[in-house]
Amino acid sequence: MSASVQPETGRDAPVTAGGALPSHIAFIMDGNGRWARSRGLPVLAGHRAGAEAVRRCVRAAVAHGVRYVTLYAFSSENWRRGPREVGDLTNLLRYYLRHKVAELHAQGVRLRLIGELGRFEPSLREEMDRAEALTRGNTRLTLVLALSYGGRADILQAARRMAEAAVRGEISLSAIDETMIAGLLQTGDTPDPDLVVRTSGERRLSNFLLWQSAYAELAFLDVLWPDFTEQHFARLLDDYAGRERRFGGRNA
Ligand code: IPE
Ligand code: IPE
Ligand code: MG
Repeated sequence: MSASVQPETGRDAPVTAGGALPSHIAFIMDGNGRWARSRGLPVLAGHRAGAEAVRRCVRAAVAHGVRYVTLYAFSSENWRRGPREVGDLTNLLRYYLRHKVAELHAQGVRLRLIGELGRFEPSLREEMDRAEALTRGNTRLTLVLALSYGGRADILQAARRMAEAAVRGEISLSAIDETMIAGLLQTGDTPDPDLVVRTSGERRLSNFLLWQSAYAELAFLDVLWPDFTEQHFARLLDDYAGRERRFGGRNA
């Protein structure tokens, strides 16, 4: 499961990306608000343009053969933005789930949703379930959409489930290890990200994939998310290919 992060190499062997394609890229899609503000438009226009950037990003991932893409679309903390912006974002999500999932399906994309999905209204959750069910059998690209997602909440729910299992006597304490924790995270069935990208010039993780990013390469782009294009995607791949991943081993 975490093979991309803990390769079985000799103790002193360097691990170089060496022309390799990342199998999993995770994006912190930031800058929609600033994009809109700089044009004198309402924030919703920025989120709409951001959704179009998602389509470009997915097309690029499929074209380059990247197997997993995770998109941070809404954080646990984004509920603080108030009912108006949250309503706009959920309406936009509903529109894309209803009208654009067929496009994902046609590209061979499997859609997965992670996060505290129970915080969204039941009708939206039904749309989410439908989209996941429609695309379940696809294998070209797994697109993970993180909604009401927080890295700490993810680790917390895994810890609670292990504690409950231990209290019930179903597992012994010695059975708790990194593999078990990784498997209980919401991302349990996806490999750890090789590359975490944040747009908009901000240089922080904002509670994204905290456990899973332990050895991810990081890339910070000065482009606002609605301006993200296939060319940016291709440049990220070039940049990644030149990096040396050591996982604590000796450098080359
Ligand atoms: C990212 O864009 C999208 C979400 C967090 C939903 P922002 O809305 O955070 O854009 P800025 O940071 O205000 O520019
Ligand atoms: C992070 O962006 C969350 C998403 C991109 C969905 P924010 O704009 O919410 O992060 P902060 O508040 O600037 O750290
Ligand atoms: Mg932001």
